[in-house]
Formats: sequence, structure tokens, C-alpha cells
Amino acid sequence: MIIRGDIIFTERKEEYTVYEDSHLIAEEGIIKGIYKNIPEEHRGEEVIDRRGKLIVPSFTDIHLHAPQYLNRGLGTDKELMEWLKIYTFPEEEKFRNMEYAEKVWKKVINDLWECGSLHSAVFSSIHEKATEKLIELFMVSGLSAYVGKVNMDRNTNESYFEEVEEGIAATERIIRKYEGKSELVRTIITPRFAITCSEDSLKRQGELSDQYRIPVQSHLNENFKEIEFTMSLFPEYENYSDIYNKNNLFGKNAASIMAHCIYNSEEEVELISKNNVYPVYCPESNANLMSGIMDARQLLNLGAPVCIASDISGGHSLFLPRQIVLGIQMSKMKARFENDFSKVIKNSEGYYMATKNPGSFFGKTGSLEIGYEANFLVVDVSDIIMDIEKRSITEKFEKWLYIGSEKNIQERYMKGRKLEKPF
Ligand code: GUN
Ligand code: FE
Repeated sequence: MIIRGDIIFTERKEEYTVYEDSHLIAEEGIIKGIYKNIPEEHRGEEVIDRRGKLIVPSFTDIHLHAPQYLNRGLGTDKELMEWLKIYTFPEEEKFRNMEYAEKVWKKVINDLWECGSLHSAVFSSIHEKATEKLIELFMVSGLSAYVGKVNMDRNTNESYFEEVEEGIAATERIIRKYEGKSELVRTIITPRFAITCSEDSLKRQGELSDQYRIPVQSHLNENFKEIEFTMSLFPEYENYSDIYNKNNLFGKNAASIMAHCIYNSEEEVELISKNNVYPVYCPESNANLMSGIMDARQLLNLGAPVCIASDISGGHSLFLPRQIVLGIQMSKMKARFENDFSKVIKNSEGYYMATKNPGSFFGKTGSLEIGYEANFLVVDVSDIIMDIEKRSITEKFEKWLYIGSEKNIQERYMKGRKLEKPF
């Protein structure tokens, strides 16, 4: 497969790698190289001609809640704990109804496709049947996803609740049912957060992760009240991270995605960066729920694979450039108020945190280097840039991030194959 256009990606977070009017060649879905002129052995093969358009890696949205999709833009006058109780749990509860579930799941998957997020790590609800449906619809869609049935057995609304035994048994049934079924769609252990999981539940989820070598996703250090309540529930633990770590849910045997990571002690920062933990910056969610600003720079400097994600419906925008831009802006406010300009996140770093870093959780996606899967988007910015002939590829690309939208994405390719709208 050969495609021609202006190719831009972030091999390193500090800078863009740019190939003007070049050919990307993939064999069996894997990138073989990028060439100014087509090499001898590929002459005569069909070329997909996208001259003047941008060819960029597809996004990975590594943290979002599918059953909160219809809640986008609702409840943003509340902070986390009230927001969960009043808006979030009542909405997630509706996924007991399979008709409702299927309707929302198809919309979420279509919109992920539209936004160019071809990989995602998704929280489902606590419901076994609805979670199976979400997994199966992702399998049909051609998109790649980790899907987790949420486990919660306490400190939740009375009507949205599960006994430990039930939750663990359902989680294990789902793991076994889909084990090895799909290269693209896999299950993930999903303790909602320490507040809603008893120690027994956490321990048994850690055991499942160990036994089946399945990664974990959860929330960490998001909000003052949350942290205070958490530590009152687990007084014998040293800090919030220690609760997950001692229960084998913190990137020791399997990778672990931890959303937010805003208020980390020094010990926790060290643990996050030593273990295989993916800290996730969710700027829009953190602004909406007044949670705070993650110190992305500190974790990046320690080598942690910091990602940027939508956290629907804490965040309200599925299109990841909205999150990238806000994440960058919030880093600048942090830098200003702390008078530490090393905290500023650069544009290329923002993009890297929504492509290459989260992509590494899935394998070789999120960059267009040799050996990576040919997962990319074709982007046409001609309708948003009037003086387009004066603009460099990097300028066109950054203008798309700031003033463009998903409407500028013309085509999506997964492993070198054009991916059509799923539903
Ligand atoms: N902490 C526990 N559950 C949630 C959730 O659904 N969204 C966010 N932002 N934080 C959480
Ligand atoms: Fe979340």
C-alpha cells in the first residue's frame, strides 16, 4: 500500500518529524518506510494520491467512559463526588437496558471513528451483558479497544451496586469469553476507584490481572475530597497509589492506566515512574470538575508515558485535539502561577501524548516510523486556512489542532486499510 501526501508525526516528543510530499509504504499493514521517490521494487504499484493533504498518526483515547456519552456537557457545576452521585451513576445505571446500551455504544464507536481515535481504553458500566455488547460492537467496527466492566461494591448509589462475588465472577466470565478472540479488542480489569471498591474486591481484581495477564485501568489522585475519603477508608495504606500497588493493580505484572494523577506525593511519583503505569492527563475533565492541573512535566521528565485523554463525560469533547490544546493551555497557566516555565507543554508534546505514548499501551501505533502499524488519518485543512500556500506543513498541522475539527479528517486507515464508518 502506497500513499502520497505531506506526512507529519512525533517520533520524539520535542519535535515533529516531517516529510513533505512523500510516499508512505506499508506491507501487510506495517510501515516499511517513507520515501521522496518510490523505490524501484514498488514502481508500478497503485499510489493513493493525497497530495496537499496531511497524513498523520491516528489518535489513541486512553481514558473514557462509554456509558457517560449522553451526559457530555451536563453537571459541570459540581465537583467529582457530587457529580458522580447526581449525574454519573444514574446515567450508567441505564445500561441494564440492552436496547439503550446498544444505541449509545454504536454512537460512541461511530464518533470515535469520526474523531480519528482508532484505539481507545474504555470503561463500560457494571453490567455484564452491556459490556459484552460493547466488546462485540467494537469487534465488528474494526476499531481497536480495551473494554472494562466496571467493578464497584460500596459507596455508590443504592440502585447502582454489585456484591463483590457477583462483580468478580462476571469479570472473570468476560475475560474467559473473549480471551484470544480478537487482536484488536481486549478486556481490561476496571476497579472504578478505591472508594467504590472494598479491599477484598481490589485484591481479587489484582489476582485476576495476575492470573490472566490483563492490564488495569482506574482513577488516582483526582480531587481533594476524593483523596481524603479514600485515605479514611484505607488508613493502613501509605498513600492512594499504595492501595492499588499492594493489591497488584499498579503496573507490576501488567500495565496499568491511571487517570488524573494530579495530587501525587513524592513517593507516589516515584512509584508511578518505576512501575508500568500510564498516567493520564484529562484537562477538560479536570477543568470542568474543578479538580486541578496535573504536573505532566514532572512525570514526563521521569520517563513516565504520560497520555492525554477525553475522560468523557468529565470532559465533554471526544475530538482529542480539543484536549491537547486545553492541556497545553492549562500547563501554561500552571507555569505562570508557579513561576516555573519548564512546566509548559509544547504543541508537539501535546500531540505525542495523544498518539505515541498511549499508542505504546496497544503496541506499535501512534507514530509513522518503520515497524509501526500503518494507522493514520488523511486530513484536509484547505477550508480552514485561507493563506494555505504560505503555510508550512507544521503550521498547517498546528492550525488543524487549534482551529480545525474532526470534519477535516477525510479518511482513516487501520493497518494500511481504509476504515469505513462502522454503523
Ligand atoms: N472517579 C471515579 N469514577 C469516575 C468517573 O466516572 N469520572 C471521573 N472523572 N473520575 C472518576
Ligand atoms: Fe474517568
